[in-house]
Amino acid sequence: MAGLERREWVRVWDPLVRVAHGVLVLGFAIAWLTEGKPAWLHEWAGYAVAATVALRVAWGIAGPREARFASFVVRPSAALTYLRQLLALRAPRHLGHSPAGGIMVVALLASLAATTATGIAYLGASRDRGPLAPLLGAEAARLQAEAAARDETRIRRPARWLKQVHDAAAEITLLLVIAHVGGVALASFAHRENLPRAMVTGYKQAPDA
Ligand code: HEM
Ligand code: HEM
Repeated sequence: MAGLERREWVRVWDPLVRVAHGVLVLGFAIAWLTEGKPAWLHEWAGYAVAATVALRVAWGIAGPREARFASFVVRPSAALTYLRQLLALRAPRHLGHSPAGGIMVVALLASLAATTATGIAYLGASRDRGPLAPLLGAEAARLQAEAAARDETRIRRPARWLKQVHDAAAEITLLLVIAHVGGVALASFAHRENLPRAMVTGYKQAPDA
């Protein structure tokens, strides 16, 4: 049973990576479930996700080794090889992100960036609110002023196509999240280790000597 007696625990994920993961999980879940309403909750969950993605990207350039993109972004062919091995339960164990996990990290961050950017753009263009309001909000401001002058409660929202793009980006992110959680479950099973726990505590068992 020597293989099962892994001795030491080593720290893999630093606090920023772990807290960022928690904020992304919670923020995405809240934004997805609120679907835009109530607006304050949807928007603040979305802003938290956007800020966390930006921080994580900066950390991916300047952070410690395991957090750096350079240490886990590999050629797609290497990720495919790893995936094939994983499905056959013959993949080598990685202490940091695996080749497929690394590509998934980039895909998740990119998809979250697109989802939040289109949300902020739609908020500006449809309601003249948020950071992009000065750039995109002129038409919405005009329609809102017109509606107010006529005492109308129903306001026409421009740029509905942006809402559709925002919704599509959110759905693509959800598909990636489902694949991500499936990958985490499969890798946890293949290597008999609890990867979600490692993302919470930061620690993994050292590789066999
Ligand atoms: C991970 C982050 C986010 C997710 C998963 C998400 C998801 C969604 C979904 C599923 C909808 C419903 C779309 C539809 O009914 O067609 C929606 C609507 C909307 N979202 Fe987001 N969103 C996110 C971030 C943001 C951000 C950062 C903002 C702006 C600050 C934003 C602003 C809006 C607005 C204004 C609507 C339309 C609400 C309405 O008209 O009822 N979203 N979002
Ligand atoms: C709900 C949306 C989720 C999003 C947006 C998300 C996003 C991410 C991101 C960006 C990373 C890379 C971490 C980093 O290097 O900074 C990651 C890693 C990870 N996530 Fe998630 N995640 C989500 C849900 C979950 C859930 C529900 C679980 C647990 C079952 C989970 C478990 C993990 C684990 C274990 C890793 C590390 C993978 C590895 O060992 O290479 N994630 N996730």
